[in-house]
Amino acid sequence: MSVKSSHAAADEPIGVAVVGAGYWGPNLVRNFQASTEFRLRWLCDLDVGRAERVLGGYSTVGATDDLAAVLADETVRAVAIATPAGTHLQVAMAALRAGKHVLVEKPLAASSAQGRELVAEAERRGLSLMCDHTYCYTPAVLRIRDLLHGGELGELQYLDSVRINLGLVQRDIDVMWDLAPHDLSILDFVLPPGVVPVSVAAHGADRIGAGRACVAYLTLHLNTGAIAHIHVNWLSPVKIRTTIIGGSKRTLVWDDLNPSQRLSIFDRGVDVASTEELGDEQRRDMLVSYRSGDMIAPALTEREALRTMVEEYARSIRSGTPALTDGRSGLRVIAILEAASQSLADGGRRVDLDEWATV
Ligand SMILES: NC(=O)c1ccc[n+]([C@@H]2O[C@H](COP(=O)([O-])OP(=O)(O)OC[C@H]3O[C@@H](n4cnc5c(N)ncnc54)[C@H](O)[C@@H]3O)[C@@H](O)[C@H]2O)c1
Repeated sequence: MSVKSSHAAADEPIGVAVVGAGYWGPNLVRNFQASTEFRLRWLCDLDVGRAERVLGGYSTVGATDDLAAVLADETVRAVAIATPAGTHLQVAMAALRAGKHVLVEKPLAASSAQGRELVAEAERRGLSLMCDHTYCYTPAVLRIRDLLHGGELGELQYLDSVRINLGLVQRDIDVMWDLAPHDLSILDFVLPPGVVPVSVAAHGADRIGAGRACVAYLTLHLNTGAIAHIHVNWLSPVKIRTTIIGGSKRTLVWDDLNPSQRLSIFDRGVDVASTEELGDEQRRDMLVSYRSGDMIAPALTEREALRTMVEEYARSIRSGTPALTDGRSGLRVIAILEAASQSLADGGRRVDLDEWATV
């Protein structure tokens, strides 16, 4: 293998190594191998046999358990980390210090303090640090972002997200840390510029004695007066993945379990005329009107989210600009989860997200 500078020619595929060959790592392997932007050089796992099995007998990609050797390889310019969250700081920091661009699976790190260290290191070195918030790269969420940023729904009034099913009760994290990162990363991704959460309150329960919340409700207040609610639950016999986004002009319903009509946009809602000169009774009786217009279901192309995510990683590396889901977005998600845990422990007290705005 020839040794190249880490500042390789702009049109050359970017040498990449995947670390972690467990459940999720093989999905990254498959998408890097399918991309013309990248050349997969290594798959690294503490269990080298697992890495070899993922690659198969005829692969020219190296399988190894030696991260230091991977990081010493100058043909590797980028690393993608799919190891457990508790190892993200150590593996990602080693990669950044070796001068590699880094993609980290969600969550960015095990705590916001650790996430901050990674963001600071990447910025100091001018390297791309990206967090794989996979849902953000689905055609549905990309469209929702366009609609909200483009003002087609009007001003955001509320967002209501339900992510419930009979889930695997995790041994180390509660249902909030297991499922809500998806909703929080989506919220972070779709909110129009300048609209930010300012507080979170979380309520939860563990009625099966699992030792951690199995059902939880997060309420976030936004700086505009809008509200976001997230319901996550491991104990529901039915699976629901539905988000409703109410805007002043239209309301969007995203049903991720309905492939033939994931998005529906309703020109239906409630309007209230100006009430300044009226008393309370008149206000209630006269000025609320109901709009009952059309519903449209936008056509979405079916495209694997990880394929788009991998392309965004390449774009970020080549352009030297932050990825759509950069390290800071990963940090914001962790900051909300930490504040939500604080609230849960405090009986649902509303916790301000002062820090969030500065991330
Ligand atoms: N984006 C998504 O939708 C999505 C889905 C599932 C998992 N994930 C994330 O992917 C990450 C991995 O999750 P998983 O379910 O694949 O875990 P896993 O336990 O199945 O696999 C982790 C692998 O990492 C290896 N490993 C651990 N420490 C290592 C180290 N220091 N160096 C090299 N290899 C090491 C283990 O041997 C194991 O093979 C987590 O951060 C998880 O949250 C993301």
